[in-house]
Amino acid sequence: MAGRVEAPHSNRRDLSNLRKLSTYLWEYRGRVLIALGCLMISKLAIVAVPLVLKRIVNTLDQDNTTAGDQVLLVGLGLVAAYGLLRLTSSLFKEFRDSLFARVRYRAMHKLSTQVLTHLHNLSLSFHLERRTGSISKDLSRGTNSLSSIVNLLVFNIVPTAAEFLLVAGILLGGYGWQYTLVVFVTVTLYIGFTLLFSGWRMQFRHEMNRLDSLANGRAVDSLLNYETVKYFNNEQREVSLYEEHMRGWGDAGVRSQVTMSTLNFGQAALVAIGVTIIMMLAVRDVTTHVITLGDIVLINALMLQLFVPLNVLGVVYRGLQYALADMDLVLKLLEQAPEIQDKPNAVNLTIEQARIEFRDVEFAYLPERPILKGISFSVEPGSKVAVVGPSGAGKSTLSRLLFRFYDVNKGGVLIDGVDVRDCTQASLRAVLGVVPQDTVMFNESIRYNLAYANADATDERVADAARRANLEAFIADLPEGYDTVVGERGLKLSGGEKQRMAIARVVVKDPPIIIFDEATSSLDTRSEQAILEGMNAVARRATSLVIAHRLSTVVDADQILVLDQGLIVERGTHEELLAAAGLYADLWQLQLGGEESENQV
Ligand SMILES: Nc1ncnc2c1ncn2[C@@H]1O[C@H](COP(=O)(O)OP(=O)(O)OP(=O)(O)O)[C@@H](O)[C@H]1O
Ligand SMILES: [Mg+2]
Repeated sequence: MAGRVEAPHSNRRDLSNLRKLSTYLWEYRGRVLIALGCLMISKLAIVAVPLVLKRIVNTLDQDNTTAGDQVLLVGLGLVAAYGLLRLTSSLFKEFRDSLFARVRYRAMHKLSTQVLTHLHNLSLSFHLERRTGSISKDLSRGTNSLSSIVNLLVFNIVPTAAEFLLVAGILLGGYGWQYTLVVFVTVTLYIGFTLLFSGWRMQFRHEMNRLDSLANGRAVDSLLNYETVKYFNNEQREVSLYEEHMRGWGDAGVRSQVTMSTLNFGQAALVAIGVTIIMMLAVRDVTTHVITLGDIVLINALMLQLFVPLNVLGVVYRGLQYALADMDLVLKLLEQAPEIQDKPNAVNLTIEQARIEFRDVEFAYLPERPILKGISFSVEPGSKVAVVGPSGAGKSTLSRLLFRFYDVNKGGVLIDGVDVRDCTQASLRAVLGVVPQDTVMFNESIRYNLAYANADATDERVADAARRANLEAFIADLPEGYDTVVGERGLKLSGGEKQRMAIARVVVKDPPIIIFDEATSSLDTRSEQAILEGMNAVARRATSLVIAHRLSTVVDADQILVLDQGLIVERGTHEELLAAAGLYADLWQLQLGGEESENQV
C-alpha cells in the first residue's frame, strides 16, 4: 500500500508520546533544570516591570512641590530599575535558549539516529511496501517536531501558565476579586475556544500532511524510475498524478488558512472584550480614588503582557498539535516491530564446515500463494549445488531464506546444523556472500563499492578481487580508475560491469558460503568463461549455491536441483539428469539449440 494511513490520534496517545519524549530530555536533566531556572528569573523580571512602572507614575504624579529634586532622583532611580529589569528578562531568556540548544539538538540527533537504525532493522517486506520518499519525509518532519514540541511546551506553555498565575496573584492581592474574575473568565473562554476550534480544524492539517507525503512519495518514485518514465513517454502522467495530490494539498491548505483566520479573530475579540471590561473597572476605581493613576498603568501593562503570550498560545497550541501529529508518525514507526528478530538466546554462528541444509521448507510471501512446498536438499562443505528452473519458481527465494530476510513457514534452513532462526542475524550474514540477481550500487566510487564488503580491505585486496572478477581492464580504462563514481544505484555501469562488481565484492568479503544468483546472466560468453574461472577459484574454498538460467554454467556442479512449481522435480549431476531425459534434459536441448544458432550468426 502506498502512502501512510493517518488515523486521528487521541489525547491519550499524545500523552504517552510526550512521556516517551521526556526520556530523551531526561538525560540532560541538569541543563533542563538550569534552563527552567533562567526562565523563571526572566519571567519574574518581566512581571516586575509593570510594578516599577506604577511606582514611576505615582512618584511623578505626587503634587509634591517642595521636594522636586528628590522626586526626580527617585523617578530616575525607578526608571533605571525598570530598564535593568527588562534587560535581565531578555538576558535570562537568551541564556535559557542557549543552554537548551544542546538538549534540543542532542535529542533530535538521537531520535533520528534511532529511527534510521530502526528502519534498517525492519524487515524487507516492510520496505518493499513503503515508499522511500514518504519515509524520509516522515523522518525529517518527526525530528523537527521533537524540537518544536520541546520548545513550545517548555518555553511557551509552562512559562505562560506561570505568568498567568503571577498576574492573577497580583490582581487578587492588590485589586480585589472583580478584576481577577474578569481575567479568569476571559482566559478560560479564550483557552476553551482555542482548544475546541483548533481541535476541529486539525483535520485540514492532517489532510495536508497526508497529501504532502503522497505527493512526495510519488515524486521520488517517479524520479527513481526516471528511465522507465522516459521509455513509456509517461512524464505527463507522472506529473499529473503528482499535481492531483498537490492540488488536494493546496485546497486543504486554503481551508486550513481560512479556519485559522477565523480562530485568530475569535481570540482577538475575546481579548479585546476582556481588556475593555478590566479597563472600565480600573477607570471607575480611579475616579472614585480607590486606586491611583499608577495602578491603572500597572493593570494595563499587566493585561497587555498577559495576553501577548496568550495570543501566541493559540499559535503555540496549534504548533504543538501539528508537532504531535508529526511525532506520532515517527513513534508509530518506531513501535513497528521488525518481523525478523534475533531470539533472546540467539547464538553466534561459527562456521566449522559450511554445510547448508534445507529441511522440508515450506514458504509463502502471502498465505494464499505458496512458493516453496516442501524443499529438502543439502550442500555439502566445499561443494557446489546448482538450482535451475523456470522464472518465478522460487530460486531467489531460497537465497532470501538463507539470509533470513523472511522466516520459513515450515521446516528449517540450517547451516552447520544450526537453524538460521537460532543464531544472530549479524553472525549469520557475516558468513554468507551473495552475488545478487539485481545488483544495486551506492552512488560512490568503485573503490568504495568494492570495499563495502569489508571495511578493513586493503587496496591490494580490492585490486586482487577486481582482477579475479575480470574488472581490471575496465577499471584501467576509466579516466578516474577506482575513483570513478558509479551513479545512483550504479546506473552508470553496464549490467555486466555491475555483475562483475558484485562478484568482486564477494571476493573481497571472502565468506565461507556463497550464493550466486544469476551471477553471469548479463555477460557475453567469453567474459562469462573468464569469470567462471575466477568464480571457481573463489568458490573452491567455499560452499556454493549457484542459481542459473544458462545451464552451461552449472554443468560442473556436484548436484543440480530442478525447481518447478515449488518442488524439486529432479536432482542429480549433469550426466545423470541428461540420462533421465526429464525436464532438465529438455531445457538442455533447447538451450543447446539456441547456442548453436547463436554461434552460427
Ligand atoms: N516480496 C514478495 N511478495 C510477494 N511475492 C513475492 C515477493 N517476492 C517474490 N515473490 C513471488 O515469489 C515467486 C518466486 O520469486 P523468486 O524471486 O524466488 O523467483 P525466481 O525463481 O528467482 O525467478 P527468476 O528466475 O525470474 O529470478 C515469484 O512468483 C514472485 O512473484
Ligand atoms: Mg531470481
